[in-house]
Amino acid sequence: MENKEEKKKIVLSGIRSTGNLHLGNYFGALSKFVKMQDDYDCRYFVADLHALTTHPDPKMIHENVKQILAEYLAAGLDPEKNTIFVQSDVPEISEMYLLLNMHVGIGELMRTASFKDKARKALGITSDGDEIEKEIIGNNTNQRVNAGLLTYPTLMAVDILIQKADLVPVGKDQEQHLELTRRFARRFNSFYKTDYFTEPTNFNFGGEAVKVPGLDGSGKMGKSEGNCIYLIDDEKTLRKKVMRAVTDEGPKEPNQPVSQPVENLFTLMALVSGPEVVKHYRDAYADCSIRYGDMKKQLAEDILKITLPIRERILEIRGDDEYLSKVVARGAERAREYASATLRDVKEIMGIRKV
Ligand code: TRP
Repeated sequence: MENKEEKKKIVLSGIRSTGNLHLGNYFGALSKFVKMQDDYDCRYFVADLHALTTHPDPKMIHENVKQILAEYLAAGLDPEKNTIFVQSDVPEISEMYLLLNMHVGIGELMRTASFKDKARKALGITSDGDEIEKEIIGNNTNQRVNAGLLTYPTLMAVDILIQKADLVPVGKDQEQHLELTRRFARRFNSFYKTDYFTEPTNFNFGGEAVKVPGLDGSGKMGKSEGNCIYLIDDEKTLRKKVMRAVTDEGPKEPNQPVSQPVENLFTLMALVSGPEVVKHYRDAYADCSIRYGDMKKQLAEDILKITLPIRERILEIRGDDEYLSKVVARGAERAREYASATLRDVKEIMGIRKV
């Protein structure tokens, strides 16, 4: 009998286990993951294999996986509603990664923006010229660009395709990877004359991707010193960070344009405080009565209202290894069920069959 209920779309996203999650991850990803969990078949994972490409310290890798899992759960991801798993718990991913690599060009991988960035970092090159390919091949020092970094997009494509994901909520910096995923899917289909894979699309929640600015006056929140608020930050640390956020000397005349660092604080405020609060400080800026110290105090309070309860839950979950193991064991079981079905088909299509 046909199932009348429409099949839920499959959502997949992952976060690399390279450190604590910050407010940018929270507003850019986690809070949206939580919103999607009722309407979609959501599969969220910790990308520990991807983390290995840049953070190969074994102890850190392991600790960070547990930390991110705790942070996922503390932010409200429900393991009953979602499939929450660790990438390396699904060996089918690694196997399909080898298979898909046979259809991926090293040229297209080398032209990927994130690869160029990371390769430059690995070789200590600061200029952003196009000679990176030559630098990589000609380089005979101890510094090397590992091949895992090059094939990062293959692995990410496999994460997505092996789960047959329809929607992949990722930020701007990952769009190129998603585009490659679609290209690999099309290539596979056309090479094997099949329509096996459907092309996944980005999912931006019906609006612009939110940009969460950092505290250092520059661009978006990242893990650099003085720029970042972590979900795990305690009250004192968080207040201190916010009070030290970069501003300017203050408006000298009414309705003066707002400088970037101060605009950043307004943007943060718009995310965590009510609209009346934002309006209050906007008005105070416009008539030059604003005191940045007061604004920052308010901002810190409103951030804490969001992060402190999460912090408490993180600590609680982090201390319960048994619970974490249970969650990922169940997640892995489900993820493997989906993944092994895809891998079986892919091998069959590619001619890797039992003799
Ligand atoms: N590359 C992503 C990042 O750095 C993490 C990631 C790995 C991912 N595999 C994925 C995201 C699959 C979405 C889908 O943020």
